[in-house]
Amino acid sequence: MSIAYLNGEWGAITDAKVSVLDRGFLFGDGIYEVIPVYAGKLFTLERHLIRLANSLSEVDMDNPMSDTQWTALLTEAVERSGENNAALYVQVTRGADTLRNHVYPDALVPTVFVMVNAAPILERNSVAPYSLITLDDFRWSMGQIKTVSLIAASMLKNKAIAAGANDAVLIRAGKVTECTASNIFVVVDGVLVTPPKSAHLLHGITRDLIVELALEHKISFQEREITVEELSGASEIFITSSTHEAWPVSHLNETPVGNGEPGVIWHHIDDLFQNFKKQV
Ligand SMILES: Cc1ncc(COP(=O)(O)O)c(C=O)c1O
Repeated sequence: MSIAYLNGEWGAITDAKVSVLDRGFLFGDGIYEVIPVYAGKLFTLERHLIRLANSLSEVDMDNPMSDTQWTALLTEAVERSGENNAALYVQVTRGADTLRNHVYPDALVPTVFVMVNAAPILERNSVAPYSLITLDDFRWSMGQIKTVSLIAASMLKNKAIAAGANDAVLIRAGKVTECTASNIFVVVDGVLVTPPKSAHLLHGITRDLIVELALEHKISFQEREITVEELSGASEIFITSSTHEAWPVSHLNETPVGNGEPGVIWHHIDDLFQNFKKQV
């Protein structure tokens, strides 16, 4: 059952309402996290709480809760939803002012919103590979902040959909950054490569886990910039996010990637990731 928490109240998502003077509504002045829930447990919660705290600090907002309080609230949200496999969304905005003003007011009460929605687990052999197109990355240069200001990402995603693709891989100054809501890995000359962390991409938690698994299992791996030419010639491409895990890409700009099927390295990484999930 979908469930929502808003500033201390629990209820149906459609009943949750915020003020039109909320700075999240007026300025996109807020941050968020999406945390996967598997078998009723919040997956890699500690990592998400660290990124939540980092995002808040980057936008000069106090963290409204301690990690212990967040853990209790988010665990309660999952329990109340009754869902086993779900996506938990948590958003914090700077709160509702008494007028529209760019200047941060003193002592606003932040708006805290949590929702849990069912997210059935996909059988791995029913994962349908994505088709991507390349688009110019015109988003801002603070991509490490997980902000709710997502108009640029939405524009790019919709451009990709209108072109008949599933998503866009974004290019800044001739280098690959990420996709509109996921990180990217490519296989070049047998080596798994992902762009280094920077202010041009979100420091994805799934990305970090996959880097750690690749290193632990001695998969040939490099963290370095990827040129458009390398992307076009890659034998495999896959994307990563909390909702997609590792997801294969079959086409880039309407051209098959490798033989157009999920590749051996994706299969290997996906197996490692599924095993890691079971362990934790
Ligand atoms: C722009 C962007 N990059 C990457 C990711 C993947 O991050 P994570 O693996 O932490 O979900 C997301 C997730 O929403 C995203 O929005």
